[in-house]
Amino acid sequence: MSERIFGKPIITQVEMQRRIKELGRRISIDYEGKDLLVVGVLKGAFAFFADLIRAIRLPVRVDFIMVSSYGVKSKSAGRVKVISDLTADIAGQDVLIVEDIVDSGLTVNSLKKNLLSRRPKSLRFCALLDKQERRKIDVVIDYVGFKIPNKYVVGYGLDYQDKYRNLPYIAVLENVDEE
Ligand code: IMP
Ligand code: MG
Repeated sequence: MSERIFGKPIITQVEMQRRIKELGRRISIDYEGKDLLVVGVLKGAFAFFADLIRAIRLPVRVDFIMVSSYGVKSKSAGRVKVISDLTADIAGQDVLIVEDIVDSGLTVNSLKKNLLSRRPKSLRFCALLDKQERRKIDVVIDYVGFKIPNKYVVGYGLDYQDKYRNLPYIAVLENVDEE
């Protein structure tokens, strides 16, 4: 877990905290007077989620959903499976989904279909990272932290084979075979 192993961070803790404060401010303005439910997509979003909700100046409620996307070899599963569902009904509610990273877009696309069928009042997506180059499906991400190049990254919640989530910044992991 040292810089020796991962090289320099591509996004530092300082940059991340500054950007998250901005996102929190924007979300607070956009949802002013509304009853917002913020949903973290596990596991990857947990670190970003914890910082983001504390940057939102509204009395939000939180929930979590766990989906399978990448297997232990970091290959895209293509179809997304809900492993652990929300604890409550979202019908008629303003819902903001918080993701770690949007890559092919399959996860967001599949989550969107699933959640829209539950008839929320509104549904928006927020992602810390956006790897636009790798998109297979066009998806709208309402709030993006950082656009990043086509590299496999770890840290701040993001994993490789379920490890490195505790790295306090985002770093590129070299020689990863994604697909
Ligand atoms: P998508 O369905 O291809 O958009 O992939 C989204 C999911 O893949 C994310 O929620 C991550 O869990 C995982 N993922 C994609 N790219 C990376 C990466 O560079 N590092 C770690 N996880 C990633
Ligand atoms: Mg993951």
